[in-house]
Amino acid sequence: MKSRVLLGVTGGIAAYKTPWLVRLLVESGMDVHVVMTRAATQFVTPLTLATVSGNRVEHDMWEKPFEPQIEHITLADQADVAVIAPATANIIGKIASGIADDLLTTMFMAVTCPALICPSMNVNMFRNPVVQRNLNRLRELGYHVLDPASGYLACGWVGEGRLPEPECIVEEIRGLLAPRDLEGENVLVTAGPTEEPLDPVRFLTNRSSGKMGVAVATRALARGAHVTLVAGPINIPVPQGLKHVPVRTAQEMHDRVMEVSSRMSVIIKAAAVADFRPAVESADKIKKEFAEPHIPLAPNPDILKALGARKRPDQILVGFAAETGDAVENGRKKLVSKNLDLLVVNDVTRPGAGFDYDTNIARFLHRSGLEEEFEIMPKRKVADLILDRVRDLRKNLKTGGER
Ligand code: PMT
Repeated sequence: MKSRVLLGVTGGIAAYKTPWLVRLLVESGMDVHVVMTRAATQFVTPLTLATVSGNRVEHDMWEKPFEPQIEHITLADQADVAVIAPATANIIGKIASGIADDLLTTMFMAVTCPALICPSMNVNMFRNPVVQRNLNRLRELGYHVLDPASGYLACGWVGEGRLPEPECIVEEIRGLLAPRDLEGENVLVTAGPTEEPLDPVRFLTNRSSGKMGVAVATRALARGAHVTLVAGPINIPVPQGLKHVPVRTAQEMHDRVMEVSSRMSVIIKAAAVADFRPAVESADKIKKEFAEPHIPLAPNPDILKALGARKRPDQILVGFAAETGDAVENGRKKLVSKNLDLLVVNDVTRPGAGFDYDTNIARFLHRSGLEEEFEIMPKRKVADLILDRVRDLRKNLKTGGER
């Protein structure tokens, strides 16, 4: 059955983003019911949101003739998750103070499902101690608050107050709807490329965007795990609520991972780590007239191998393999030589798989010998499948079963 999202839209300029938000939610398979304040209808029309959601949009408590069903209660009762985006200072203040004087506030008073507030306003309004107090009050009361993004604001100011991109809000909503089946797990994920400097302006790297690793970290967080993300230089949003440790080189990634690895119950290594670095890093920019036409290389530490060597019996270790040839045979060798529980093999020569795509084509090689092959699917889904296997492995370990 589809998850039912109750989306409250209030009167801020960021309301212009809500048709796209609704569209993304619908594309993700959710049933979206929109309730607008009167002010919101000045920024985006109910007709637009009704069209993209495929459902009637409510904005007036008294608009319809009397019906025996009490509409705001029905909407609240049936919601799996309730969201207000954008949430103005006004609505935040009203909800924090228990005021219910229109359809949206009345309905919000009645929701019992998880509720997400996405503040969006001018930076000085956002920093106003009254607004901050109200937001803290909401957090204390169990509301989820998505911090606004920073950047250019419609009022001309630059600072925090922007409504996060609809994709981020969808991810938060997915998180609230997800089963909390990884609660209690400490998950370390690595993501992205590494950069190996040659001189102050040049480095060796690869085409990893970090999307696969960030998808794993995002889904693990949504499923209740404590997540640490050690990531090379990436240019994609990382969700709030996890510990992001940015690194540059393979050596730095190795050092940060080793510092925390003993505290982790699950380690998933999606990063594309450079196997080699320039043997010498020049302090000055190498001039073409003095340069040798070759770069001597030195090996980097093999982080996954080091983790496999010191793995505790209760730790679950998942590696990735970016293959271009005989993916399965090479993958099996890696599984054994690095003492892994699961290896996710992606043949990065296939369209839609590997570097920078939003999708991947994965094959799972299990320690038990089991092999699973999957169709092309979004990286988020691959992430969920990996985490499903981690959850099953944990259950098995708890009952004394084999890995
Ligand atoms: O980031 P995206 O653009 O979304 O792309 C995703 C991805 C292609 C990077 C990802 O799906 C993937 O395959 N990651 C592993 C890439 C890789 O480095 O593969 P490998 O076969 O060279 O390494 C095998 C494993 O050893 C990996 O888990 C890697 O993190 C680890 N490794 C490798 C070298 C090294 N020195 N230390 C390591 O820990």
